[in-house]
Amino acid sequence: MLFQRAFAKINLGLRVIRKRQDGYHDIETVFHRVNIFDDLVAGPAQDLSLSCDDPRIPIDGNLVLLAAGLLRQRFGVRAGARLTLTKRIPYGAGLGGGSADAAAALLLLCRLWKLAPPRGSLDEIALAIGSDVPYFLGAGSAYATSRGEMLSYFQLTLPYAILVIVPEIHLSTRSAFEAIVPVDHSGSDDLRTLLLQHLDRPDLLRNVLFNDFEAPAIRSHPQIGDLRRRIYDSGADCCLLSGSGSSVFGIYSDDAAAAAAASSLGGEFRTFLTPSGFVPDLRITGASVV
Ligand code: C5P
Repeated sequence: MLFQRAFAKINLGLRVIRKRQDGYHDIETVFHRVNIFDDLVAGPAQDLSLSCDDPRIPIDGNLVLLAAGLLRQRFGVRAGARLTLTKRIPYGAGLGGGSADAAAALLLLCRLWKLAPPRGSLDEIALAIGSDVPYFLGAGSAYATSRGEMLSYFQLTLPYAILVIVPEIHLSTRSAFEAIVPVDHSGSDDLRTLLLQHLDRPDLLRNVLFNDFEAPAIRSHPQIGDLRRRIYDSGADCCLLSGSGSSVFGIYSDDAAAAAAASSLGGEFRTFLTPSGFVPDLRITGASVV
């Protein structure tokens, strides 16, 4: 049996640059993992199967099975696998849960099936599953452009606590992209530069990091705007929507304020606290016996 944690991401800023001919949008973002994770286990089996502890998660069409099927097809694998998913990452929240699970499935199954695909072909499969799946194949944070698959990884250990708060609102990424009107960001530094320049002044990050989905999300769901205000009132230095929403995260230089906000908002919302200095453990553990 092989095991990997699939960590959720937040977007430290997100710009929608333009609509493309292929229907997707060019974006610019910084992906960063937080301490919210699903567990994926892969064991040998004749057929391919997936079970999940959360009955609300559909098995048919699940990105984990899609990933397994594409990998098997691409490399002519005959073996199956028994995949078991323990779900903790909220879905429809802009945290990339399904994408993280799919990438973990690709990495685990390469190990289980003893495949050593060139990185490019794994990236291709990942992109066929979803725009932010390629990010989850690599370690570290990443500056991303194009659909989100042109990645430049860098190590970012934030000396700040991050509190992710998830309202009971499920937003569709597709609808959010359909509704957005791209704005001109030319003339501004790129998001990674802005982030790194302001890393020791988190209170200034709010002036430079924006998510283009935030204003439309607040217009359609004013509760998200209320939540944002409450996160600032609780002492956050910076607060942003993640992905196309609906989750919102606060960056706190004061760990105690973050912990207090987690418990005060925790009665109303699902809250997830990532401590300062957090480094995700992305190791694959266990042994593959085929
Ligand atoms: O790639 P993914 O399947 O996650 O995207 C879901 C939908 O979001 C796409 O069908 C597309 O409509 C939209 N999208 C986009 N531009 C991106 C990523 C996603 O327009 N860069």
